[in-house]
Amino acid sequence: MNEILSLQKITKTYYLQSEDIEVLRGVDLTVSEGEFVGIFGPSGSGKSTLLNIIGSLDKATSGTVRFNGMNLEEHDDTALSEIRNKQIGFVFQFHHLLSEFTCLENIALPGLLDCPSPRDVYDRAQHLLEKFGMADKRNRLPEQLSGGERQRVAIARALINDPLLILADEPAGNLDDMNTNKLLEVFVGLNHDGKTIILVTHSLDVERFGTHVYNLREGRLYAM
Ligand SMILES: Nc1ncnc2c1ncn2[C@@H]1O[C@H](COP(=O)(O)OP(=O)(O)OP(=O)(O)O)[C@@H](O)[C@H]1O
Ligand SMILES: [Mg+2]
Repeated sequence: MNEILSLQKITKTYYLQSEDIEVLRGVDLTVSEGEFVGIFGPSGSGKSTLLNIIGSLDKATSGTVRFNGMNLEEHDDTALSEIRNKQIGFVFQFHHLLSEFTCLENIALPGLLDCPSPRDVYDRAQHLLEKFGMADKRNRLPEQLSGGERQRVAIARALINDPLLILADEPAGNLDDMNTNKLLEVFVGLNHDGKTIILVTHSLDVERFGTHVYNLREGRLYAM
């Protein structure tokens, strides 16, 4: 299988006035196309830090991140934001939907950057809404949706540019059990369709759905 991501000896230290906080102490990870990587770790173990480094939202203190054949350290901020927009889909604990835009518009927005055909983007957005059983809510604002529905819209938005990799940071953090299960089914379905996913969590039973499962502990990843 094609390698999509490779992390080598990733470290991350936050230098505060009073102390240095070594969050990641040498993380190695290889992710191939089609994997559903679940990373479990307690609160404060560095899951968001790691995911933000993978997604180039943050820089490692040392180590290399290879994504889709590119060394991310070698790219400037403009190139990185282009890579992020086109090739990586993010889903966060809080949906980060834009409150003044409808569901359909929120999903379409990342697809409209340098896009020759907005119509195609809206068609794809509509298709995603249908796929997630939300077609009847296309014109609602985020505040007019339930938490589970908002997260499904956030996933649809992450998919609009058909990214190579989906990064999910505690995506069910605010949901009840029923909506959590529904959301996990969405992720499992996407993975069955071939999407590569990395999901981090302190609460979910990652062994239930991940094809490759790791524990993040004391700054390192251990296969579970
Ligand atoms: N900007 C920062 N400056 C200093 N320390 C930070 C910063 N961001 C995170 N940390 C520290 O790094 C550690 C890891 O934080 P991180 O947010 O990655 O944890 P997490 O595993 O995602 O936790 P949670 O499950 O609560 O979301 C924590 O001890 C946190 O306090
Ligand atoms: Mg976190």
